[in-house]
Amino acid sequence: MGLSPPNLRRKHYWLFACGFEGNSRSLIAYKLKTLSVHDNAVEAPCEYFGECGGCKTQNLTYEAQLREKEQQVHDLIARLGKFGNSPLSGEPGSYMMPIVPCATPYAYRNKMEFSYGTKKWKSKGLFVSPKLEDVNESGPKLEFALGLHAPGRFDKIMPIHNCLLQHDVSNQVLKLVQDHGERHLEELPPYDVRTHEGFLKHLTIRSGRDCETGQLQLMVNFVTKGDKKDLLQPLVDQITTSFPQVVSIVNNVNSAVGPSSIVDKEHVLYGKAYITERLRGLVFEISANSFFQTNTSQAEVLYQKVEEQCALKGDGSEVLLDLFCGTGTIGLSMAKRVKHVYGYELVQEAVVDARRNAARNGIQNATFIQGDLNKLTDEFGKDFPRPDVVITDPNRPGMHIKLIKYLLQLRARRIVYISCNPATCARDLDLLCHTGDEGVESPTRYRLVHVQPVDMFPQTPHIECITTLELCE
Ligand SMILES: C[S@@+](CC[C@H](N)C(=O)[O-])C[C@H]1O[C@@H](n2cnc3c(N)ncnc32)[C@H](O)[C@@H]1O
Repeated sequence: MGLSPPNLRRKHYWLFACGFEGNSRSLIAYKLKTLSVHDNAVEAPCEYFGECGGCKTQNLTYEAQLREKEQQVHDLIARLGKFGNSPLSGEPGSYMMPIVPCATPYAYRNKMEFSYGTKKWKSKGLFVSPKLEDVNESGPKLEFALGLHAPGRFDKIMPIHNCLLQHDVSNQVLKLVQDHGERHLEELPPYDVRTHEGFLKHLTIRSGRDCETGQLQLMVNFVTKGDKKDLLQPLVDQITTSFPQVVSIVNNVNSAVGPSSIVDKEHVLYGKAYITERLRGLVFEISANSFFQTNTSQAEVLYQKVEEQCALKGDGSEVLLDLFCGTGTIGLSMAKRVKHVYGYELVQEAVVDARRNAARNGIQNATFIQGDLNKLTDEFGKDFPRPDVVITDPNRPGMHIKLIKYLLQLRARRIVYISCNPATCARDLDLLCHTGDEGVESPTRYRLVHVQPVDMFPQTPHIECITTLELCE
């Protein structure tokens, strides 16, 4: 038993029990009782709060969430990055900027992926041991479940009917698909992750906007194990009759066993193969497997801040290198101010999307190259000129040491590092800015001038961060 969390200033004390479950080697904690409530606690508005793993912090005021995230970014940069405490914003030596809040702390996600399953999560209350309450643990009964995975359970699905993070119409589509699934369990069996039998694996609902009218557009993507698209036609008809906002329905066939997301085949069951969205004055086509920032309105803010941090001359003389460029959105949004944008990305489909997005927006000074930035060879950099400014936006593991060494040799005037994981970002900044670190022997160093947290993910502990480095002369 113990008291949590250890940070007593928060005044939120829980009594909890810990133990090992079955043969598991992980220690699991179950909350027994709330002893005293956090100063900034609020009633969580979501009916699934505490059981769904999605929005863990919605029982804190949004203001308190922002303060916690800001503090977290500062502490990681100061300690792990070894930059020391930042004076207050605006004071000499300060590197921390105040966090940018999200204007819409709910219904901000333009993409939600739900899973099908044959076992429903049936916990009765918050933080109750799943072993006690999970009545289907040993029963052979086949059920229909469509929703989000119960935390820590790959085989149990919480049948979410209303997710407060997505658009209301997306919730209505979800409900229709769930009702249809309950009634057609035999014809459209959900995939069972234990036996690998069944047909329906995932449902993804994405939202965008018609670029002429600004009207909501939805894409519905059914990921199935087998290639039997005709089975889905009655459901497709029902969706399109009920929801004119749905302009695209696709079926991605994924026959792999296990969690692989590799798509064997894609069928367009209705409408177009993509939806569109407007960002920074450009139109982007988003297909079923394209990466696109999940919070569109806050991506607008993020990209504007990134552009400010690039401090481009704007006279069309500079070269911009956009590493981990995805579908090219960041680089393309700055293309008109530079001589040329070079984008580098691992996923071939994203590179194809980036090229198509460039063409759709009449941009001719952008080149997108497919490659793995975790496996740099001596040839890397030979297919583009030396850039003036580098934007790097890796996913959670951050940058590979070889890429950091490459950047130190490259000596671009500025590096703007966007990160969704301030811990790996702090580690990489330390290597780029401080001498004597393991494995990095280079006289080139950068100076950290700006850290800008941007809240892209309200109600969750996740935080996006823009950090700016200037080359030391
Ligand atoms: C956080 S996303 C950023 C995408 C883009 N900058 C944007 O804002 O839309 C990270 C991107 O890095 C790509 N990526 C992941 N690992 C990579 C690697 N080893 N080499 C190159 N790109 C990689 C992912 O496919 C993804 O598109």
